[in-house]
Amino acid sequence: MTDASTAPKAVLLADYQPFSHVISQVDLAFHLSPRATRVKARLALSPNPQRASGLDLRLDGEGLTLISCMVNGVAVHATPDASGLTLPAALLPDGAFVLETEVEIAPEANTALEGLYMSKGMYCTQCEAEGFRKITFYPDRPDVMAPFRVRIEAEAPVLLSNGNLVGKGEGWAEWHDPWPKPAYLFALVAGDLVAHSAPFKTASGRDVALNIWVRPGDEDRCAYAMDSLIRSMRWDEQVYGREYDLDIFNIVAVDDFNMGAMENKGLNIFNSKYVLASAKTATDDDFGRIEAIIAHEYFHNWTGNRITCRDWFQLCLKEGLTVFRDQQFTGDMRSHAVKRIEDVLMLRARQFREDQGPLAHAVRPDAYVEINNFYTATIYEKGAEVIGMLKRLVGEAGYAKALDLYFDRHDGQAATIEDWIAVFEDATGRDLAQFKRWYSEAGTPRLHVHEDWADGTYTLHFTQENPATPGQPVKGAKVIPIAVGLLNPNGDEVVETTVLEMTEGRQSFAFTGLSARPVPSILRGFSAPVVLERNVSASERAFLLAHDTDPFNKWEAGRGLAKEILAQMVTDGGKPSADWLEALVRVVMDDRLDPAFRALALRLPSDDDMAQTLFLSGYVPDPDRIYAARRRMGDALAHRLSADLPRLFNDLDVPGPYSPDAVAAGRRALRMAVLDLLSRLDGGKAAEALSQSADNMTEEVGALSCLLSVGAGDAALARFKARWSDNGNVMDKWFALQIGLAPPAKAAALTESLTSDPGFAWRNPNRFRSVIGALSANHAGFHNASGAGYRLVADWLLKLDPLNPQTAARMSSAFETWRRYDADRKGMVQAELQRILATPNLSRDMTEMAQRMLTD
Ligand code: PHE
Ligand code: ZN
Repeated sequence: MTDASTAPKAVLLADYQPFSHVISQVDLAFHLSPRATRVKARLALSPNPQRASGLDLRLDGEGLTLISCMVNGVAVHATPDASGLTLPAALLPDGAFVLETEVEIAPEANTALEGLYMSKGMYCTQCEAEGFRKITFYPDRPDVMAPFRVRIEAEAPVLLSNGNLVGKGEGWAEWHDPWPKPAYLFALVAGDLVAHSAPFKTASGRDVALNIWVRPGDEDRCAYAMDSLIRSMRWDEQVYGREYDLDIFNIVAVDDFNMGAMENKGLNIFNSKYVLASAKTATDDDFGRIEAIIAHEYFHNWTGNRITCRDWFQLCLKEGLTVFRDQQFTGDMRSHAVKRIEDVLMLRARQFREDQGPLAHAVRPDAYVEINNFYTATIYEKGAEVIGMLKRLVGEAGYAKALDLYFDRHDGQAATIEDWIAVFEDATGRDLAQFKRWYSEAGTPRLHVHEDWADGTYTLHFTQENPATPGQPVKGAKVIPIAVGLLNPNGDEVVETTVLEMTEGRQSFAFTGLSARPVPSILRGFSAPVVLERNVSASERAFLLAHDTDPFNKWEAGRGLAKEILAQMVTDGGKPSADWLEALVRVVMDDRLDPAFRALALRLPSDDDMAQTLFLSGYVPDPDRIYAARRRMGDALAHRLSADLPRLFNDLDVPGPYSPDAVAAGRRALRMAVLDLLSRLDGGKAAEALSQSADNMTEEVGALSCLLSVGAGDAALARFKARWSDNGNVMDKWFALQIGLAPPAKAAALTESLTSDPGFAWRNPNRFRSVIGALSANHAGFHNASGAGYRLVADWLLKLDPLNPQTAARMSSAFETWRRYDADRKGMVQAELQRILATPNLSRDMTEMAQRMLTD
């Protein structure tokens, strides 16, 4: 395939060494201009006592034009290479010295959106993971931490950087960040911006000015983000005892952004879609994501910034923990049950999928070619699950003690997973050596269960299977916390939730003194990220759906039932069973249950989820059959509920002005699920009416989706476009909805035609995702037997790659599931991946992805 000489070189965890020097102070001066920005950097350096003396100084730097270079005020001759600048030890004084460089860069030409770039006339930066090297020569690694002073000169009214503002005048501003930080947390913004502001007083009395900066005209869509920020700040004080540590906290919304948001110290930069919201422009889901991401970035101030990562292999140290914290926060703000179900849906859809394919990697990998390819569901979501397991094993009090110790011991440091584990061992006295396998070994364990019943003793026998993953053929047994409860045949709980700790490959746990054979509820709350395999009868699942006291497992019982029936419908073409229909109808009609929960129970397993499930049980999934069966399943449900749907739809109307709170959102979610069923019966009549009358985006999008699903969306689509054509974030929905819901045989052609729509500004990552990403998320459309979906996605990834390799490479994971399918489809995907790999000047990002996906 690719010979070793052209293969990009891997970075290895085993090669870690501290940097040759330490930096005690960084002074930066920016003179901003679109095509010729000047950056002066003054670094106070000295040899690192942890390393030998007399080492060369190697600085990272990419695409920089070096103007001058001085050591202790004396010009030195230095010639950069493609990746940086080396100052030989012979040129450096013994002991401390000052290095001054000046470089020129062109932010306007920066299409990769990494480093200093421009978005709609505004200057902004993105430095994680390795973007700072595109701004100035510097040791661009997270373990080099220093205080920064920044001077910005530009013809822009608003000039922002990290820390506190220490001075400003016409065309300039100066910022000091007293907290030593790695370069990836540096940020700068300059532009014509307006602030939505609010005051905040920390628990110990520090006054903090909060500002959300947006383009003029957007300031009336910041209130929810601000409210979320204030609640996040309070929550971190109350739950983790962590206060904010500067006088000012700025958030900036930008339209061109590769990811969701970035936690730069004191100056978070956000994808505008995760800041801007009003009832009219944002759905309930958008509001929920804004709340979660605002919290996530804010929580990084302690878990990420005050304590950062020693190297990028430790990425989960900040990301897994911060995701775990934002999940706790959302649970506290909304509903723990609903949040857990949503998180597990996401985990299975993205992380299990990744873990079962060629891109599987450990939560802490030990090698990478391009670090940008490792901002994955495994690092983030499985990283959070691993912390959830730790907490389950050591208990609430043990967790609180460990976290206090973590902040005490490592504040101001760049830490490792070893440090993190040691804190739990020292705080609780537990030996976590075996637990560490969750960090070092990839793959989703499969947990097989069977049971015995004799003389009042009920025994659960577990076997864990740790499947091979790329580069890791053999694995050890994991520590698996298995939360179990037992129910009596009459539905009463006889054994409350108990956490069984599995540490061996095979292990049995007995419950004694029972008067009747119980019904087990296993893996309550999804206590470990594993695939549970147990032969459960449909009637037992229906029993758990009706009686389980654990909300996650109650939902899971219905889910398991739906998947089993859907799998059968796919393979034998049959109809859904009456058992399932009756059990589900009881939940949907049960007014005592949270509407949000009922909406989740109504949500059918996705096509991709079914393909994953079928593949795991030894079938070759057929995308068209899955699509058809899923539609039949929805139709059957609609018919069974036909007498109740109109009344349910009307009863669930939320009176009064729109509010994004969880209760109202839950009712709307159920109402939209009901409307989706109703549309199958009335051809979209009720949806069309709602589409015309809706006064909020949740219902507008909900109605449009229903119409698109039944092929009656044309008029609503046209209205939507006419109404929203000047709002980019809303128009992303217009593109994504119609592609995502297009019938399989038409999806690729529709996508192709939309790529010629004047609104398809493909250099904008959100828009690219809402078109090309929407096609790859339309399972049957993407995997259509014609191969047109594969080809179109590959074409566009290749078009984006030279401009924005990070986003192109990340989206190439659309192809990661190819080994599930039949020989024809496999052959077509393989050919596309080979075509990608054979493309001249392919980015390192994309090369790594295509190679990994093609390797057995
Ligand atoms: N660190 C960011 C977050 O998770 C994600 C990010 C990574 C953003 C790389 C930009 C670039 O909050
Ligand atoms: Zn994060």
